[in-house]
Amino acid sequence: MNYEHQLNTDLTPQYITKLRDEFNDALRVLSLPKHPTYLYEPISYVFSGEGKRLRPILLYITGDSLGATEKDLKYAGIAVELLHNFTLVHDDIMDQDDLRHGQHTIHKKWDESTAILAGDGIYVMSLSMIAKVQNHPLEVIGTFNDAALIVCEGQAYDKQYEYDTNITLDEYLIMVEKKTGWLIGLCTELGGILGNQQLETIQSLKKFGTKLGTAFQIQDDMLEITANEKNMGKSLGSDLTRGKQTILSILAREKNQKDWQNLNSNILEIDRSIKIQKEFLEANGILKKADQMIQSYIDQAIDTLKYIPDPCNSRLLQFTKLILNRDH
Ligand code: IPE
Ligand code: IPE
Ligand code: MG
Ligand code: MG
Repeated sequence: MNYEHQLNTDLTPQYITKLRDEFNDALRVLSLPKHPTYLYEPISYVFSGEGKRLRPILLYITGDSLGATEKDLKYAGIAVELLHNFTLVHDDIMDQDDLRHGQHTIHKKWDESTAILAGDGIYVMSLSMIAKVQNHPLEVIGTFNDAALIVCEGQAYDKQYEYDTNITLDEYLIMVEKKTGWLIGLCTELGGILGNQQLETIQSLKKFGTKLGTAFQIQDDMLEITANEKNMGKSLGSDLTRGKQTILSILAREKNQKDWQNLNSNILEIDRSIKIQKEFLEANGILKKADQMIQSYIDQAIDTLKYIPDPCNSRLLQFTKLILNRDH
């Protein structure tokens, strides 16, 4: 990485790609021992996957425009991406999914014990990486650990709510904020801490990221049904087969519980089930309503930008547009 980033306030696709490549390189050159292969082979396989690296990119552009050092942004960026990948390895066991980042999940390619241990190893690597930051290290480490536990809480709700058709929209939104929003909020918050911002600005940065991250997960719930596996690089359909509470199932239940349940009680081949669900959701205006929900979280995120200094705020606005337009 080099200092020319600090002059760049325009988030061109080329600039985002450059940052992504740099974080990919940084992940792939993390010096892993060769032995025991049981632990390190699956870990390096995780790093070779096709992640979008959105979290380190967001952390980087936030902190970079607030004057944080290149080194700290690199350490913290890699740490959040490691934390994210740890949650994905364990999430795929929990959701019994076969594909991630365009390749087989660890428990599929090896087995569950291997995946549990690889996840543990990646988590510990994230803790070692975040401990390297030079500026406000104790605050950074404390914030990082608190966020990691909140993600576990979100994942706990996600599992606890499976097949529970009494879950309300509010309960769903809390779950989503915790399992996904919080980690994205951590990225903007750490950018602010590393960039020596005042407490109120850091709180606004955290709120911005958390709202954006919540919108991101609602969008992910929608992409489960509107996108395809090849584009997404991960298994789709497990929301349906595992009784997950998603924005779509909740709004569909609110609209017409009986028809929605009837439609899902027929066990069909997965692609066919998704097609039937999609028709129902379109016909009942659910996809449109879910879109409005995403937009309302985006609006809440954008609303906090007025408390965030220039040019950080304009960069975050540009990043928001990239997220809104994503197709995977
Ligand atoms: C996937 O997140 C898990 C969710 C929180 C929806 P990303 O879409 O950011 O994951 P990558 O890019 O595949 O790593
Ligand atoms: C995303 O979980 C949240 C975490 C992994 C912490 P999901 O299970 O909803 O996301 P995908 O669809 O597997 O990426
Ligand atoms: Mg999952
Ligand atoms: Mg999950």
